[in-house]
Amino acid sequence: MVKESEAITDDVAELVTSAHRVAVLTGAGISAESGVPTFREAQTGLWERFSAEDLATVEAFENDPALVWTWYRWRQSLIQAVEPNPGHAALADWQARLRARQGELSIITQNVDDLHERAGAEVLGHLHGSIFTHRCVDCAEPAELPAPQYNGFEPPAESEHPPPCAVCGHGVLRPNVVWFAEMLPAEAFEDASAAIRSADLVLVVGTSGIVQPAASLPLLAMERRTPLVEVNPEPTELTEVMDYSLRGPSGTLLAQMVQASR
Ligand code: OAD
Repeated sequence: MVKESEAITDDVAELVTSAHRVAVLTGAGISAESGVPTFREAQTGLWERFSAEDLATVEAFENDPALVWTWYRWRQSLIQAVEPNPGHAALADWQARLRARQGELSIITQNVDDLHERAGAEVLGHLHGSIFTHRCVDCAEPAELPAPQYNGFEPPAESEHPPPCAVCGHGVLRPNVVWFAEMLPAEAFEDASAAIRSADLVLVVGTSGIVQPAASLPLLAMERRTPLVEVNPEPTELTEVMDYSLRGPSGTLLAQMVQASR
């Protein structure tokens, strides 16, 4: 039976203090306090008629490449314009301190942003890819692009077409992210599974737990009876498999946990 609370309890503080190998699965919620909208929030500008799930598909890109391409290019600008928040900083700090004691804190993220890295953490796996890399839809060659020239805080009035691939000449570029129904990068998923299997504490932070197969990773911990702690202001699809569900923003709660781990 999951135990719910709005602040860390003595039980959770005890788990945090004794943990030597921690695995953390993060989702859009950890970047929310930086100002990056989560996937279930309403869209604005050119995209206000769409949900993020409508845009993050191969079909959406084939139907209207400019609409989808511009959404991702604009989100790049938005991510570059914001800063990591205390939740990202807390995980980076905890990772550094566990490593200093020959322990490990493995960050597995569904996020395509780079806010964990900018807070100073190393990420074991970006399960859904990176918004800052691109590849050709036909030949799959990676392509470097200059940073987009958008104001990240204001959606653009017009869309731009994806550029052609300079290698094969017939494909166009797409963001190197995982769209719905696409395969996850196998190595990232295997590394994530191994980290969760070898952890003595697993945290699930800021994810609705709706999107598979990422949402199945915490079940590996459940099978091994590894303590599972969720950090999320709302109940999620994963709450019922948790031992503890901490109901609040990750910036505050992760900072409390790291304080407890000292
Ligand atoms: P969602 O947008 O589905 O869920 C965000 C979660 O963050 C929700 O459960 C919120 O309650 C929670 N949240 C909001 N503010 C928070 C805060 N300050 N602290 C902690 N939690 C907070 O995002 P994901 O679960 O990451 O995939 O979505 C998973 C995948 O679905 C994404 O990676 C993306 C998306 O479609 C693809 O594009 C393939």
